[in-house]
Amino acid sequence: MPKILVIGGAGYIGSHVVKELLEGGYEAVVFDDMSSGQEVNLFKEAGFIKGNILDKKALDGAMSQNIDAVIHLAGKKAVGESMENPQKYAENNLNGVVNIVNSMVDNDVKHIVFSSSAAVYGMPQYLPLDEKHPLNPMSFYGYTKLATENLLAWYAKLKDFNYIALRYFNAVGYAADKSITGREKNPQNLLPIIMEAATGKRDGFAIFGSDYDTPDGTCLRDYIHVSDLASAHVAAIKRLMTDKKSYSLNLGTGKGISVKQIVDATENIIGKRLNYRYAARRPGDPAIVVAKSDLAQQILNWKPKYTNIEDIIQTVWNLEI
Ligand code: UFG
Repeated sequence: MPKILVIGGAGYIGSHVVKELLEGGYEAVVFDDMSSGQEVNLFKEAGFIKGNILDKKALDGAMSQNIDAVIHLAGKKAVGESMENPQKYAENNLNGVVNIVNSMVDNDVKHIVFSSSAAVYGMPQYLPLDEKHPLNPMSFYGYTKLATENLLAWYAKLKDFNYIALRYFNAVGYAADKSITGREKNPQNLLPIIMEAATGKRDGFAIFGSDYDTPDGTCLRDYIHVSDLASAHVAAIKRLMTDKKSYSLNLGTGKGISVKQIVDATENIIGKRLNYRYAARRPGDPAIVVAKSDLAQQILNWKPKYTNIEDIIQTVWNLEI
């Protein structure tokens, strides 16, 4: 079976991708510097190389082990931090990816799946967002995702090389069989923050903005379960190995869920009230971000299985009970 190098495979999404690859009969080798990856997220059936993407020699060592394709999920991803410390994001997300693709070319590895983001679109000009929407990132983080997609597009023109960039919307949840238990350290996203409040790791949280032009005044986002994201990566690998073409594809469910709906659903599931307050809007937050994922469904022959937000939140709460 094909051997896949999963760069960032000990992280939140990466570990779910490794699980899905192994279950699909692929061989997986994780390459991770463990800066945010966690040992508990490593599967013993997968190989492991501790290394950093800024170390081209380490990448070459990994790529030379008969790798058929790469999945790159080792990007830094805190939007706010990318605006305060663009150097860190330029080095990791830009220099890092140059090393990865050059190492691929040097070692004759021809296919890559890249973790991109809805952040490439910026402020929605229409909804739902499809892949033809103008690309106008509002953060340096989003810029690094777009720059990487552009780099990959050039390599696909100039080299024997193809890629699929998967533009994630809001990734949430954990594998339902509880096989992945490493929670993110210092989470920045809504649901993990709510869960920390639910388990007493933090006192409470704030809902940013209650006066948006939405049914309940709070922002709507497109929450997609991480296991659905993971299965899309495996489908993308399959597609890349049988097709010469490259694609950028949205991964979402097409359904907008409000912050308040997430909070209410969590309270129902955990059976108690959460301590939260309404605060000012967070700068740069669009009122609504929802994906049109028809292209991914068609190209990857894939469909998200989780469509109900309660079921998604339950997979996170299951780890606590
Ligand atoms: N929110 C709160 N309180 C919090 C945290 C978040 O109310 O403590 C709200 C936000 O204002 C937003 C929603 O919850 O309305 C979701 O926020 P997240 O930070 O979890 O996610 P974002 O939609 O802001 O960000 C996601 C991805 C980014 C990506 C971005 C661009 O996490 O990687 O979408 O579309 F860049």
